[in-house]
Amino acid sequence: MRGVKISELQTPALLVDSADFEHNLSTMAAALPGARLRPHVKAHKCTALAARQELAGHPGFTCATVREVEGMAAAGLGEDLLLANEVLEMSRLGHVCANHRARVTVAVDSEAVVDAALAGGVREVLIDVNVGLPRCGVDPADAGRLADYARSKGLTVRGVMGYEGHVVGLESRPTREEMTEQCKALLLKAHGDVGGELISAGGTGTYDINTWATEIQAGSYALMDTAYDKLGLPFRQALSVLASVISVSPGWAVADCGLKALGMDHGNPTVVDGTTFFCSDEHITFIPDEDHAVRVGDRIRVIPAHVDPTVAYHQHLWLTDGDDVLEPWPVDLRGW
Ligand SMILES: Cc1ncc(COP(=O)(O)O)c(C=O)c1O
Repeated sequence: MRGVKISELQTPALLVDSADFEHNLSTMAAALPGARLRPHVKAHKCTALAARQELAGHPGFTCATVREVEGMAAAGLGEDLLLANEVLEMSRLGHVCANHRARVTVAVDSEAVVDAALAGGVREVLIDVNVGLPRCGVDPADAGRLADYARSKGLTVRGVMGYEGHVVGLESRPTREEMTEQCKALLLKAHGDVGGELISAGGTGTYDINTWATEIQAGSYALMDTAYDKLGLPFRQALSVLASVISVSPGWAVADCGLKALGMDHGNPTVVDGTTFFCSDEHITFIPDEDHAVRVGDRIRVIPAHVDPTVAYHQHLWLTDGDDVLEPWPVDLRGW
């Protein structure tokens, strides 16, 4: 990419500021070195980025889909992959274990999912415990029973996981602390019944609050978004969408990134030097700041409210340094 400028990129384009990104990786690696962090790849779906996280010292990764596990193993990043999600068809995972010499552990919260692991050829599991997020996870009181069932079938139970997803995004730190403490009681009780070396939990919003898990599954910290920015964490907004102004009317302007280029489940994106009016499929209508009038053809920056679904819409992340494009990083873990 020598000599390529961001002005030459086709828009919408997803940019990663290299200085902010490196700051995020080094800040997290200092707080949670080595295996204390198991970075979640769902936030970026990109093996080139994951390779940087491995270089920062983290040997294991968290995944959310079979495709993410496959892609990470194929990229040589399969030393210790946790699929922190329930899946029912695991033959592709069994294939990964056999052919890529990757270590794959899956989350299980029912006998049916344990049976699916067995049928698919996966041999290591974590008992997924519900610590308050109404999603997956076995009742803490049932965790020991499920672990016994898995062991009776010949599987290795490496421990427990309990994702406090209902807590990670809360803006008040005292509330995050108090609620993480409630999760701790549930997960440590379950771990007492299950055993194993792993207690896997946490996310970007609790990375320094959850001090009792053996590993934290944070993902958003590497790129960040405006929802997490409100929490006052030491991570910088490294991700932005570059868009082109395609139409200007009295009172508003329109650029070429809409809700098919931006995850909107955490609310509207933020326009730099403007105010978001609304997004439609391919358009963002915004009101430019008084001192930042725009013309057709101008480029603007738009900051996503939620990093994970935003990245999943794009084929590339473009690593940048100021106006220079350093590298294209394929978003190669997309799909299922
Ligand atoms: C199971 C699980 N663990 C960890 C995370 C961490 O996410 P983040 O760092 O984005 O808060 C997520 C995010 O959705 C998740 O689903």
